[in-house]
Amino acid sequence: METLHAIPRLRDTVRNWREQGESVALVPTMGNLHNGHLVLVGEAQKLATKVVVSIFINPMQFNDKSDFADYPRTLEDDRQKLDVNGVDVLFVPEQAALYPMAVPMAHLGLDSATRVEVPGLSDILCGEFRPGHFTGVTTIVAKLLNIIQPDIALFGEKDFQQLLLIMRMVHDLHLPVKIVGVPTVREADGLAMSSRNTYLSADERVRANKLYQILCHANEQITRNSHGTCDFRAIEHKSMALLDNEGLRPEYFSVRRASDLALAGPEDQDLVILAAVWLGKTRLIDNVRIG
Ligand code: PAJ
Repeated sequence: METLHAIPRLRDTVRNWREQGESVALVPTMGNLHNGHLVLVGEAQKLATKVVVSIFINPMQFNDKSDFADYPRTLEDDRQKLDVNGVDVLFVPEQAALYPMAVPMAHLGLDSATRVEVPGLSDILCGEFRPGHFTGVTTIVAKLLNIIQPDIALFGEKDFQQLLLIMRMVHDLHLPVKIVGVPTVREADGLAMSSRNTYLSADERVRANKLYQILCHANEQITRNSHGTCDFRAIEHKSMALLDNEGLRPEYFSVRRASDLALAGPEDQDLVILAAVWLGKTRLIDNVRIG
């Protein structure tokens, strides 16, 4: 596996692949790789002949400076995992390369950088609690798609709102790439794998799977009743109380339409339940599709 830092080198490599008739998949990450990331890599290898994984801890998507400073940086471990898993290129850009600020505005830092924003969808659920987060995500993903120009790019359904936002951005900007969603990879007890799980204390780790259990419980209640007779808002309320009882402090627990994350009503069929909670100092998110 080659590790590339410079954008021109990466572009040359991809151009050479293209000339040889290869197809290219991109898996964007922020590193501290776990099995969930590696499943994305495995799916990418089924869908394209060359796979690029990017590792970039994107400052623009952190609304909290200390969260950015503390985010686990494990590049050498990550490199080895990707190498063993047969990745073709690891792209590790420098911040200055990805955010080249226009010189007269440089003192404004990231605030002066051109950005890509999906209004509405960026401001609800996680977006309500992390202002600016999703603009950072869509901006960095647009940059990576422009730099690499892959045929496909893969994202986890674990970050369901992120996946939907990226699909919307690609559609609205006519970007010639296919976005593929990959089902959530879980630990044996149901907890969704996440780089942030390493923040959990031993005691918190034991309780963390309650989030998935309560999501599944709500899913069963909705599936058992036919949708038309189900009071979604009552289920949301009850689930928030259950989370509180378990010591997981919910930010939101919400039954939404899977296509656009609008609040679900009785007539909607394709649904997703999304939740974010705090367990001690760790923020966990998860979701389940209904049915
Ligand atoms: P990161 O949290 O590193 O996740 C990288 C990719 O792995 C995302 O598409 C995410 O949804 C997926 N992923 C994480 N945990 C997963 C799990 N348990 N099962 C399946 N997929 C999982 O998400 C980001 O980075 C960033 O926002 C990024 C898209 C790279 C932009 O900076």
